[in-house]
Amino acid sequence: MCGIVGIVGNGAVAGPLVEALRRLEYRGYDSAGIATLEHGRLARRRASGKLVNLEARLREEPLAGAIGIGHTRWATHGRPNETNAHPHATARLAVVHNGIIENFRELKHELEAKGVRFESETDTEVVAQLVSHAMDQGLGPVEAVAACLPRLRGAFALGFLFAGHDDLLVGARHGAPLAIGYGAGETYLGSDALALAPFTDALTYLEEGDWAILSRSGAEIRDIHGAVVQRPRQTIATQAYRIDKGNHRHFMAKEIHEQPEVVGRTLSHYVDLAQGRVALPEPLPFDFAKLSRLNITACGTAYYAGLVARYWFEQIARLPVEIDVASEARYREAPLERDGLTLVISQSGETADTLASLRYAKSQGQHSVCVVNVPTSTIARESSVALPTLAGPEIGVASTKAFSCQLTVLLCLAIAAGRARGTIDAAEERRLVDALITVPGLMADALARENEIEGLAREIAKARDVLYLGRGTSYPMAMEGALKLKEISYIHAEGYAAGELKHGPIALIDESVPVIVIAPHDAVFEKTVSNMQEVAARGGRIVLIGDAKGAAEHGLDTLATVTMPDLDPTVAPIVYAVPIQLVAYHTAVVMGKDVDQPRNLAKSVTVE
Ligand code: AGP
Repeated sequence: MCGIVGIVGNGAVAGPLVEALRRLEYRGYDSAGIATLEHGRLARRRASGKLVNLEARLREEPLAGAIGIGHTRWATHGRPNETNAHPHATARLAVVHNGIIENFRELKHELEAKGVRFESETDTEVVAQLVSHAMDQGLGPVEAVAACLPRLRGAFALGFLFAGHDDLLVGARHGAPLAIGYGAGETYLGSDALALAPFTDALTYLEEGDWAILSRSGAEIRDIHGAVVQRPRQTIATQAYRIDKGNHRHFMAKEIHEQPEVVGRTLSHYVDLAQGRVALPEPLPFDFAKLSRLNITACGTAYYAGLVARYWFEQIARLPVEIDVASEARYREAPLERDGLTLVISQSGETADTLASLRYAKSQGQHSVCVVNVPTSTIARESSVALPTLAGPEIGVASTKAFSCQLTVLLCLAIAAGRARGTIDAAEERRLVDALITVPGLMADALARENEIEGLAREIAKARDVLYLGRGTSYPMAMEGALKLKEISYIHAEGYAAGELKHGPIALIDESVPVIVIAPHDAVFEKTVSNMQEVAARGGRIVLIGDAKGAAEHGLDTLATVTMPDLDPTVAPIVYAVPIQLVAYHTAVVMGKDVDQPRNLAKSVTVE
């Protein structure tokens, strides 16, 4: 949602703070700001919009100081302007915040009744004023934070800087990630390892309720009760956090093109290639054979991966699946059987709704497995088993390589479930694994169609509405294709079950509405051709994403046909992720949209 960083350093920190914020921009980019101590005095620079605007401010008005905090914002409370930009400050302190303080109005009214005047609309400024007021009552910085933290409700990660204290930062974590980094005579605070990678590979992740007192000699960590605790220090492979676009124009393009490599890397982590069988990276603390059903919950693209996986678990493992978006699952109070299994899927591992659904499932006595792209994330650490997608950092807000890696892991898990439940024999498992092993090459073949798709994108870019249709596992792929298009091109798009078209949506069809049909030549292809005929009969312009066999058979005029390589239909969703991503990407590029940082969005939604 937002990114925070802090440095107790040996040299000027303004530049390193901005470098860290550049690595955090994927978490939000409505505004940015830093604060330092110049000769003990607090000094701040803030700017609305992207980090480049703050950099321009700092060129005009540089900030000195060897200690500071920084923030890049995804607006939750208050417009994305400079007044609401973090850090928020009083004469005594500055604070940066990721998350939401749910009881900020109550606290604000209490402080206003004591004569405190606010300048912003944010919940964060309330935290600054609350701690500052406690210091007005005679408490020192650390005691004031300790006194105020228990009064805050919601999910937050905080970083504090205090006037006159040039060897002190305080960080606190409650529902949003926060890491401590250790350098040579320097100590760091950051939302994640990516932010701190330029400075150190030695990190400690705070646990829920922890807060930390940082100085140049290190950090003292205290738990929610104020007791000093030890948390494990990890060495993070920071070379994996090299973030650049390579020779691509956007991170999204780079990440689409990385898919053959990262899907192959993920596959090798889950499959014994020599034996032709799935070999999960760690034993599962439950037996698939004893499950009566599987619950799946996730958000956005991860949810669509779960919808695809439902077909695989039910068809391969004959395991009934219940699936819901996490924002509903967390409040539905669904009856979940003790010792049942909940599977959560999340690229960031920090999505608030997904985390809350995980916690609900655990409260009902369920085992929990997560498929995450950040193995040090909160969801990873709170799940019984964390199955990593080895996609590497995904910077583009629109999820691409993480999605195809999620599908890869989920198909491996469904095969493992089938083996455990005796619904597939060794020969069928090998057949499925052999199909999986072809996927990286097939994705490379799919990428080779990019030029055709660039031409198609110029047509799609003219549309006001686009429909995506699919059957079977192509139905959630239709929804994912629609999400990809709308979140980066801002064109309204909807994904529908092709068979559902005649129950209403067909009223939308005319020559102005492109209909993108996702249809490998599988068991339901003929049915989908009927739906294409219904569209064509009403002047609809069809784009078929299919294979040569299907393209030769349907006999209809299409706006375009994107011909995918022949493949085992089981793995079609993983390979067909490529063309639907490329359609969205090139359409957004044609339209001049901000592909990597679309308006109103953030990469990790850590608030509900
Ligand atoms: C996907 O392109 C979107 N950016 C969004 O729907 C995302 O998938 C969703 O917010 C879930 O995020 P997570 O996978 O990090 O939990």
